[in-house]
Amino acid sequence: MNKTLWRNALDYINPYIPGKSIEDVKKEYQLDKVVRLASNENPQGPSRDVVKAIQKSLNQLNLYPDSTAKNLREKLAIFYNISREEIMTTNGADNAITLLISSYVNEGDEVVYSTPTFPAYRSTTILMGGIPVEVPVTEDWCFDLNAMYERITDKTKLVIICNPNNPTGTIVSKENLVDFLDKVPNHVQVIVDEAYAEYIDDKDYLTGIQLFKENYPLITVRTFSKFYGLAGLRVGYVVAKRDILEPVLRIREPFATNRIAIDAAIAALDDREYGKTHLKETREGKNYLSKELGSLGFEVFPSHTNFLFVHLKMDSLKLFKKLLPYGLIIRPCAPWGLSEYARITIGIKKENELFIKTLQKEIPNHIKI
Ligand SMILES: Cc1ncc(COP(=O)(O)O)c(C=O)c1O
Repeated sequence: MNKTLWRNALDYINPYIPGKSIEDVKKEYQLDKVVRLASNENPQGPSRDVVKAIQKSLNQLNLYPDSTAKNLREKLAIFYNISREEIMTTNGADNAITLLISSYVNEGDEVVYSTPTFPAYRSTTILMGGIPVEVPVTEDWCFDLNAMYERITDKTKLVIICNPNNPTGTIVSKENLVDFLDKVPNHVQVIVDEAYAEYIDDKDYLTGIQLFKENYPLITVRTFSKFYGLAGLRVGYVVAKRDILEPVLRIREPFATNRIAIDAAIAALDDREYGKTHLKETREGKNYLSKELGSLGFEVFPSHTNFLFVHLKMDSLKLFKKLLPYGLIIRPCAPWGLSEYARITIGIKKENELFIKTLQKEIPNHIKI
């Protein structure tokens, strides 16, 4: 197709590069089993109750879902002790981010965030004719709220805080966040993207939802993709005041959250035990991987998520390719301009051990590089 027919902004948007697919690696290397430690998925899969709810839901696939996802919003409202009017469900958090930026950003509006971070902030801002104002993260890879504040102008429409941040796994402290929110001008709308919030066990972390309940006028984006193991279903949600959700609801697809996703998410919220085991195993896996990767000479940064941000001190694409024949997929950070860094999802015990054993075999002398 003739590119001149494309919308102009698309010249400035790179296609999203997903983690390499398990099926492709199986086929390419003729493997029965492939472990993907690249996409921050929950390796345990959803709870059994969720699977049962999904099976039940299959009987009604001929029927459109409830467009407002009232039952799920009701469940979330009870979970957080907020009003269901303050919740909007979406087709994954990605969809939430696209909808929010699309409903708030006019041509020439500025959107401020730190980099490296989740790529959707940039692409949708550009699509809407907005201007991404990208502020480098701090030396310890945290969103730099002070520097972001300095970049706010009369043209700033949105500030996006990825907390914890993908790919660096860092959080902004309670104190820094509150200080920022207290001084941000009224013409600026703040969004916090909390895709990994459920993994955090740090007294210094304050969620957007807690702050919202203290009357801070912010927008929080959440997902069932990570902690609840439902990445394949695509279900996310936004928490904000009703008047803030109003424009977003005007452009949201009428059935953004599908029937199975709604039923599964409700069952996921009901199964409180499942999350406990997953958190424990993630914590143990994170400790194990951090220690072993450290022994191999890699620099591993403290992470508040289900993945590790690692300085490999070698070309991450080369390592990525070396690992594929073993059925291991990691995420090189080259798309963020960090060619020596990788993002590695915490797998289950067996997967983590396979990864470490393979590295010990493939790059035993790495420490001396
Ligand atoms: C920070 C962040 N926000 C949003 C998303 C999108 O999540 P979802 O699967 O709900 O679209 C991701 C997924 O990796 C993420 O890392």
